[in-house]
Amino acid sequence: MILFENVTKTYPRTTRPALDDVNLEIPRGEFAFVVGTSGSGKSTLMQLVMKEQDATRGRILVAGRDLDRLPERKVPALRREIGCVFQDFRLLPNKTVFQNVAYALQVLGSSRARIRQTVPETLELVGLAGMEKRLPHQLSGGEQQRVAIARAFVNRPPILLADEPTGNLDPDTSLGIVQLLDRINRTGTTVVMATHDTVTVNAMRKRVIRLDRGVLVSDMEAGDYTTGSIPRVRLEEETSARPADAPEVPDGYDDGDPAAYDHGDAAQAPGAPGAPDEPSVTMPPIGRDEDAPRARGGIFRRHKAVQTSDR
Ligand SMILES: Nc1ncnc2c1ncn2[C@@H]1O[C@H](COP(=O)(O)OP(=O)(O)O)[C@@H](O)[C@H]1O
Ligand SMILES: [Mg+2]
Repeated sequence: MILFENVTKTYPRTTRPALDDVNLEIPRGEFAFVVGTSGSGKSTLMQLVMKEQDATRGRILVAGRDLDRLPERKVPALRREIGCVFQDFRLLPNKTVFQNVAYALQVLGSSRARIRQTVPETLELVGLAGMEKRLPHQLSGGEQQRVAIARAFVNRPPILLADEPTGNLDPDTSLGIVQLLDRINRTGTTVVMATHDTVTVNAMRKRVIRLDRGVLVSDMEAGDYTTGSIPRVRLEEETSARPADAPEVPDGYDDGDPAAYDHGDAAQAPGAPGAPDEPSVTMPPIGRDEDAPRARGGIFRRHKAVQTSDR
């Protein structure tokens, strides 16, 4: 779903590339962290996916589109498939919670009926039911970020990018935000989160892609921020030591179970002409956060440098 092939980005009037020959594949339905110190290229990577920046060299495929060949007039359709969340929330200060979220659908031309149904559903999903009428300044930072996530997800995009979404939040609140992104991921949405936040990365046991001065230096499943990986033996020990955490059945996630994550073609372009008014994605119940973390086999993700098929 997101594929980088030998992607280099060099900004004008700079000597060192912000991204240097990056190869990366993020399949549909995956949750991946992008980590690295400030200036390592995380935001650049996100902006390339959005086509807010163009690669200097290499090829980028997003949801089956070759971004280098994508005409300008088709960029809005690409962006409708990608929800974005930022460190600084970027809410409209004079609009209520409901209006902030509804606005994202209004600009897509959604019907009032759809807005009336989808906005409360989405606010419920992010844990903000009952707060519809508040203004952003009447919310905590974590609640404001939940509004921003609701706004990014309200049209059920197949991809959600979050650029340091917990950067302004305390650790407990941050964990809640990442768990919310995990819940969204379980609806089938691909989630890519750039972060410095070691505690949440380590807590989540997700794929960790690490950048160092623009170079992709490691790419691990069930990663750990500090070491980059959890050695297989340690993961197995922990899994057997804490049987409650072990899934009853292997979740088959990495083997690619497309049916489990398939949006169906129509949902690929929410809001697009011809798309059904109602999303086809079924939302998991709120209580899914309590689910045990899924231990995942296969620690080291081999670098598949090139995959040429369009997806
Ligand atoms: N618009 C820009 N113009 C020039 N240089 C930039 C621009 N954006 C980012 N950079 C440079 O690219 C490198 C990577 O930045 P960035 O992608 O923002 O990293 P991160 O998000 O990991 O902090 C840094 O050296 C930064 O100074
Ligand atoms: Mg950044």
